[in-house]
Amino acid sequence: MKKIFIMIMLILVTVISIVSMSGCYVSKNAASKSGAQLWAENCNRCHNAPGPGEFSDANWDIVGTHMQVRANISKTEINKIMDFMKSANN
Ligand code: HEC
Repeated sequence: MKKIFIMIMLILVTVISIVSMSGCYVSKNAASKSGAQLWAENCNRCHNAPGPGEFSDANWDIVGTHMQVRANISKTEINKIMDFMKSANN
């Protein structure tokens, strides 16, 4: 009984570390990346990434502020991503 419990705990710890290591991956070298690249690297970390044009420009501003906090990315990064998201609206 005790062995099974220890086995389950070991498996859980392994799974949780693998999931959290990939989930916490934050893109590096933001300055040299395009909005599309940053979007692909960040916006599907926690949910399916919404596509460009799915929201109005005004709504993207709100989503951007919200998701910058959630994703813990810089102002530069979110600005690039939001320019990309709005590019389909014109
Ligand atoms: C760290 C996890 C995480 C990352 C990374 C993330 N999101 Fe989210 N997102 C959430 C959560 C959680 C919600 C649900 C609303 C809430 O509770 O904040 C959400 C909701 C949303 C919504 C619904 C509208 C809203 O504002 O609630 C949109 C659109 C969205 N995310 C877009 C994005 C975009 C674009 C990016 C990339 C810049 C992104 N998300 C990155 C966690 C994340």
